Amino acid sequence: RKVTISVIKADIGSIAGHHKVHPDTMAAAARVLAEAKRKGVIIDFYVTHVGDDLQLIMTHRKGVDSPEIHELAWNAFKKAAEVAKELGLYAAGQDLLSDAFSGNIRGLGPGVAEMEIVERPSEPIVIFMADKTEPGAFNLPLFRAFADPFTTAGLVIDPRMHDGFRFQILDLYEGRMIELNAPEEMYDILALIGDPTRYVIKRIFRKTDGEIAAVVSSERLNLIAGRYVGKDDPVAIARVQHGFPALGEILEPFAFPHLVPGWMRGSHWGPLMPVGLRDARCTRFDGPPRVIALGFQVTKGRLIGPVDLFEDVAFDETRRLAQQIAEYMRRHGPFMPHRLHAEEMEYTTLPDVLKKLEGRWKKVEGPEAREIGKRERKESAEVQE
Ligand code: 13P
Ligand code: 13P
Ligand code: MG
Ligand code: MG
Ligand code: MG
Repeated sequence: RKVTISVIKADIGSIAGHHKVHPDTMAAAARVLAEAKRKGVIIDFYVTHVGDDLQLIMTHRKGVDSPEIHELAWNAFKKAAEVAKELGLYAAGQDLLSDAFSGNIRGLGPGVAEMEIVERPSEPIVIFMADKTEPGAFNLPLFRAFADPFTTAGLVIDPRMHDGFRFQILDLYEGRMIELNAPEEMYDILALIGDPTRYVIKRIFRKTDGEIAAVVSSERLNLIAGRYVGKDDPVAIARVQHGFPALGEILEPFAFPHLVPGWMRGSHWGPLMPVGLRDARCTRFDGPPRVIALGFQVTKGRLIGPVDLFEDVAFDETRRLAQQIAEYMRRHGPFMPHRLHAEEMEYTTLPDVLKKLEGRWKKVEGPEAREIGKRERKESAEVQE
């Protein structure tokens, strides 16, 4: 019998800036889900947050992209946003880009990761939830967990994993998708996902039998809204053990606090810091970007757990290194590569600032023009003749 795990998240407002979800908004969302559980619409649920992002973790029998489940999530966010507005929370309703629900929550602002599975006799899963970053943040850790034998011993040792995994990758700029196999096409996979602002791992399947192993939310709020409305703080679901990476193999890549796009105003590279729920909030320069990992057993659709996996001394050194990297990056101030590249900045408020300078550019003439005029650049169109 199949069960669907749906993780749907949205920033519906937060307390004292983009810091943290207010408990009353979580309670409002939980009441909506509790009612749905009582009515049998969902089997089980867990409400949590990372930073200013409200997370709805649900299990049910209705499959992925179920209008009923998406509407339920939408209603839970609406109720939570009402509380946020009443409390005057910051950016209340931030990620709810539409006023009306229209059958599917995708494209309306909230992030969605869902998988339908046949439960194994024991079905351990891990849900990763990050704030102040975007879906491509999971490219590096997921590649390492599912394709790097130096991370995942099971790729070498376990016959069920030895054939490797298939990666479904989205091109967020062109709206297209490709499937590539590891290990055979590993270098092609890396050629794409090494640019996490454009290419995003969406799903991972086990090659021996096509079983789904992981799924990532892929909302790009800026690209949907056409303007900066906060970062697309992502979530991912991964199945672990027994033919999938062991728990410790899926967590292992997060021991390296790699640089991800996001952080302050969604405009800076910073280290992804793994934290427990207690530290699932954003402070320094609105960060640094954080990720939590909650482990559950899915048992006849029930969510047994969670366990707070990064709330552990084993990640203390990672957090310390993340702090050092944060300090190093921060000292660059507004300079790249701390600041994101121009293409990503297009969706921030920076273009408005640059617009003011438009009339002030002058053409370089004389001998100096020969020094600089050699390269055709997009910006040259803005030079006043
Ligand atoms: P146990 O023998 O403790 O079940 O561990 C198996 C395993 O996969 C460890 O990575
Ligand atoms: P969020 O996407 O988490 O709301 O962050 C917005 C922001 O601008 C932080 O500086
Ligand atoms: Mg916010
Ligand atoms: Mg956020
Ligand atoms: Mg956001």
